[in-house]
Amino acid sequence: MKKQVAIMGATGMVGQRFVSLLENHPFFEVTSLYGSKRSAGKKYKDAVQWVLEKDIPEYAKSIVLKSFEDSPTVQENIVFSALPSDVANTLETELAKSGHFVFSNTSSHRYDEFVPILIPEVNPDHIEAVKFQGTKGFIVTNANCSTTGLVIPLKALLDRFKISDLFVVTMQAISGAGIHGLSALEIHGNVLPYIEKEEEKIEIETKKILGKFVQKFTDFDINIFARTNRVPVREGHTEVVFLKVEAYLPEIISALRDFRGLPQELKLPTAPLKPIIIFEDPLRPQPVLDVNNGNGMSVSVGRIRLKGGILTFTVLSHNTIRGAAGGSILNAELAYVKGLI
Ligand SMILES: NC(=O)c1ccc[n+]([C@@H]2O[C@H](COP(=O)([O-])OP(=O)(O)OC[C@H]3O[C@@H](n4cnc5c(N)ncnc54)[C@H](OP(=O)(O)O)[C@@H]3O)[C@@H](O)[C@H]2O)c1
Repeated sequence: MKKQVAIMGATGMVGQRFVSLLENHPFFEVTSLYGSKRSAGKKYKDAVQWVLEKDIPEYAKSIVLKSFEDSPTVQENIVFSALPSDVANTLETELAKSGHFVFSNTSSHRYDEFVPILIPEVNPDHIEAVKFQGTKGFIVTNANCSTTGLVIPLKALLDRFKISDLFVVTMQAISGAGIHGLSALEIHGNVLPYIEKEEEKIEIETKKILGKFVQKFTDFDINIFARTNRVPVREGHTEVVFLKVEAYLPEIISALRDFRGLPQELKLPTAPLKPIIIFEDPLRPQPVLDVNNGNGMSVSVGRIRLKGGILTFTVLSHNTIRGAAGGSILNAELAYVKGLI
């Protein structure tokens, strides 16, 4: 029998992805959708401003939205959270205390002592940290959407080579700012050279994710310098990466191309066959052409160059699928096959 799940923030950018990706999921069935007080009591199809390419799934259209603020009990013990961080801060803690397994997209708990920032291809062993949270349920987070695209190729390299001194410049999609995040006048034909708290998130999260968990988290030791930009792209974060690496180019390319993780070994339903897709064409990857590679779960890497021990490449990842809802569902699938939920 499928496990029943609730989605919090179901009307938002990430929430809509959850609603779409969980249609006909083999492990999970969506039985409740939550919004703010503004949406509570309305049918999902009437409350949501739907922006995805595929129509609203039939199963979701007539579900009546609930608000946790009005009725702070949740029937399902698995919760996918796409809430604003200020709301998630106390709400996710309360849910975990009352026995819910929360798979969160927000930054509120990413830096908590025993909360993993999980990317199952990269650090599946970090899921063990949930056993130390001391609550009936637990919180598992995924990374900030630009961190996710970055750490997957880094992990492929780190498995084989020594890496250090990382510089990354991002070009991030509008959808990363949420459904009402940016006005057309702010972003149309424009580039915003700053995204609040994003550079710090990349620097802190990358070190935690690539670090170790043995009863406590120990950061991976690397210097990271990030600069983040918002660009007029609908979906897909592009990042230009520079780092020191001790390796030759052919072995670097095969390390990236051949990389597989636990989700591929376990054949988890949301896992892409290839976590990394390599391009030799210098005009790829492009958001318009490549953002949906691997159903939005693969990262696309191109422009791979090595000069004087400095490796550069360009990576593209889907911010609301791999970087948000798809990543969270993959985390829940891993927890499910490990018998944790
Ligand atoms: N967008 C991305 O690419 C991305 C990627 C990774 C992580 N994230 C993180 O995921 C979270 C959601 O992002 P988003 O882009 O989906 O935001 P969004 O489009 O602004 O959606 C926010 C959702 O939260 C609900 N909400 C707002 N205030 C609430 C309240 N007081 N109580 C309960 N629900 C409330 C909204 O419901 P109503 O419609 O009823 O107001 C809506 O469903 C954020 O923490 C964000 O940082 C986003």
